[in-house]
Amino acid sequence: MNDWIKTDIVVIGSGIAGLTFALESARLGMKVVILTKNETRESNTNYAQGGIAAVVTDNDSFDLHVKDTLVAGAGLCDKSAVECIVHQAPEAIAWLIEQGTNFSKTHDKALEVGREGGHSRHRIVHAKDLTGREIERALTDAVSSHPLITTIEHAIALDLSFTSGVECTGITAFIPHEHRLLSVTAKATMLATGGCGQVYAHTTNPSIATGDGYAIAARAGAELKNMEFVQFHPTSLYHPNAHSFLISEAVRGFGCELKRRDGSTFMEEYHPLGSLAPRDIVARAIVREMRLSGDTSMFLDCTAHDEDTLRAHFPTIFEECLRWGIDISKEMIPVVPAAHYECGGIVTDLHARTSIKRLYACGEVACTGVHGANRLASNSLLEAVVFAKAAAQDVIHLPEVTSGIVLHESNFSTQKGALTTSIVHLLKQEIQEVMWKNVGIVRHTQELEFAQNRLLAMADEIEYLYRHNELTLELIEVRNMTQTALLIASGAASRTENCGLHFNVNLW
Ligand code: FAD
Ligand code: SIN
Repeated sequence: MNDWIKTDIVVIGSGIAGLTFALESARLGMKVVILTKNETRESNTNYAQGGIAAVVTDNDSFDLHVKDTLVAGAGLCDKSAVECIVHQAPEAIAWLIEQGTNFSKTHDKALEVGREGGHSRHRIVHAKDLTGREIERALTDAVSSHPLITTIEHAIALDLSFTSGVECTGITAFIPHEHRLLSVTAKATMLATGGCGQVYAHTTNPSIATGDGYAIAARAGAELKNMEFVQFHPTSLYHPNAHSFLISEAVRGFGCELKRRDGSTFMEEYHPLGSLAPRDIVARAIVREMRLSGDTSMFLDCTAHDEDTLRAHFPTIFEECLRWGIDISKEMIPVVPAAHYECGGIVTDLHARTSIKRLYACGEVACTGVHGANRLASNSLLEAVVFAKAAAQDVIHLPEVTSGIVLHESNFSTQKGALTTSIVHLLKQEIQEVMWKNVGIVRHTQELEFAQNRLLAMADEIEYLYRHNELTLELIEVRNMTQTALLIASGAASRTENCGLHFNVNLW
């Protein structure tokens, strides 16, 4: 059965990008349908800790924020996109507050600002160490009470629909628990599907981050770039049973230092900013120190602060570490890098327009030019708000889709059997291991070639399984994961010089 809905705007994803775009489009009078593959709040946004970068104090300036972003981006940023987000950051913060977001305040009621790696000033607006959860709460509340917005949870987008192959006219989704397809036709389609950390064995990202949007866009022929620039966050908790829980960079911004097991500091040997150097440098330094020492992690020392102070500023991190038996006011936290953020993605302009007519992309899935070869911490939530708002201003001018709608052709059939979950699970694990071991922080030409070949073979195998078995959420995701992993591996294999997050030892 193929159900069909017609609306003004369809949004795929309910993180900060999708929700902001939905709210702004609805404010301009458009009817919006949001499709999201889990519960509305389940997104990378919901786990963001550090905050949002914005110039909100007198000793800071737009020029400094622009400069820090360009330095982190290692020469590959688009300056006009950087200027755009930096200049609109104070307005974006005001907008989030208007939607109900409660940011942390100082005693005199000013916004409290923290500092993170690569930033020359304190400029990270935050809600303790739960910034993403607070934003997601506020935006979800605003969306759920808006009469022009309908949210359909547990609907996984499959592929775009087109009028005679030229203009995007919407999307077809699969609703696993009802075992049916749903097609949504709209004058604009927004991919706000977030990132792809799950293609790696170790990641700070939740399970939804399987790279669906990159794969959907690539299959439709949209332009993507810079996929090789995967940011590894330097400090995720190292514990055999903890799932790469993030220890926010704001902790280092609060004066806590990276150390070896014997308590000696090392970051000053790698960069003048020490523990607050840009992420690519810190992550590589940690990997090198682990190799030199044979240790399974490096350490983050917070013990200069007492328990009350740490609990007041980082309640979630304090509790989570305690859950794993680490009292961070008394002992150092074992940390290792983990896949965190995809700097590349679907190429978009300053209104989030992609290379395909009527198709927009925003948030982590987009490549706006802001991040270049390495993202400056806390610029991504900001980027999502600024470009989502700009996109809403653009789609208002689009004419209706009137004719020639061709619905997506899928392999949907009730006649097919379902693959066992263990096969899909094994395929997923293999992708994650291939990527972690061969397309990680430190790369080698031979390993990149190996990864590409292995992923190509897996892509064929998975395509066959996709065509010949009943659709399931897991099968759809694993197909998207191989295709996204391939985009990253082939981007890395074809980049001929080291830059930002791409570091291939054979190019030196
Ligand atoms: P997401 O928030 O990931 O939302 C994507 C949405 O798309 C989800 O709702 C998902 O379910 C849905 N979706 C995906 N595929 C499909 C599909 N096929 N069909 C239907 N729905 C789909 N950035 C900062 O700027 N500051 C921070 O402090 C910060 N901290 C972070 C901490 C952690 C632990 C992590 C993981 C990231 C952090 N980031 C931070 C990065 C930032 O959170 C993300 O880049 C940002 O939230 C992405 O927002 P988004 O709306 O693009 O995607
Ligand atoms: C963090 O809190 O360290 C994450 C910030 C980010 O990824 O921008």
